[in-house]
Amino acid sequence: MAPRKIIIDTDPGQDDAVAILLALACPEELDVLGIVAVAGNVPLPLTQKNARIVCELAGRRDVPVYAGCDAPMARKLITAEHVHGKTGLDGPVMEDPTLPLQDQHGVDFIIDTLRREPSGSVTLCPLGPLTNIATVFTRAPDVIKRVKEIVLMGGAYFEVGNITPAAEFNIYVDPEAADIVFRSGVPLTVMPLDVTHKALTTKARIAAFREMSSRVGTMVAAWTDFFERFDMEKYGSEGAPLHDPCVIAYLLEPHLFSGRFINVTIETRSELTLGMTVADWWRITDRPKNCLFIGDILADKFYSLLSDRLARL
Ligand code: BDR
Ligand code: CA
Repeated sequence: MAPRKIIIDTDPGQDDAVAILLALACPEELDVLGIVAVAGNVPLPLTQKNARIVCELAGRRDVPVYAGCDAPMARKLITAEHVHGKTGLDGPVMEDPTLPLQDQHGVDFIIDTLRREPSGSVTLCPLGPLTNIATVFTRAPDVIKRVKEIVLMGGAYFEVGNITPAAEFNIYVDPEAADIVFRSGVPLTVMPLDVTHKALTTKARIAAFREMSSRVGTMVAAWTDFFERFDMEKYGSEGAPLHDPCVIAYLLEPHLFSGRFINVTIETRSELTLGMTVADWWRITDRPKNCLFIGDILADKFYSLLSDRLARL
């Protein structure tokens, strides 16, 4: 079977970086048409640079990297250096990338790609705020129906919030964009904190990365070590969630995940609960179902998949 065509929309971020590596490690299954950076964990000049660092690390200079939007649709950018460090990829020492950034704006790249490729053949994989995707849908509504599906990391229901008591970071940064995407009608699969918090790193899981004895394994272990400290302090847990790789793992091995088809609506007005993903998990309303909201994961199998595939790089 031909590999599935995907576009990764991302704000690297250590966990974004691991997700990108996982995708690039699986060319038989995933054809990464391009990587589009968005402002999120850190500002756009850093996220686009980090995306290029990751492609180089994977030895995939053939994958084009684009810069998309540098600010949310209607708000000031909120970043997460307190989690990811000043560069967004703090941890190991890294050299500047030599892989050039594409001239085309990331939003135009997504629009052109969706118009060029056969309708229903391209999957979008957002790993950060949904600004680029919502801008695409607003600027070129004709492409909405051409998207095969969206599999994204964002939101939370039982785990409530990680950037405010009510909201998860990716949705909170650009709630207007999230609202557009969740109402778009595109088949949507959502990896919320509810699932990512069920697959925490452990010493053994990080050791498996380090023991690859490859540059990729060493970097992933160092990133994970850095990224862990924040969540371990915050939640008092043994490890930390690796959020974004869940999206790519779902494309590779969907049976590792389970969830419910439900309605999820984004809060865009309340100051107190801005960016909340109000998930009708118990199906109490008659709001139309708009996504598969994932709630569970086979965590050991997820980490085995991750280390088996990353070892290929
Ligand atoms: C999400 O926010 C970012 O900090 C991570 O990269 C992930 O995409 C988790 O809330
Ligand atoms: Ca991210």
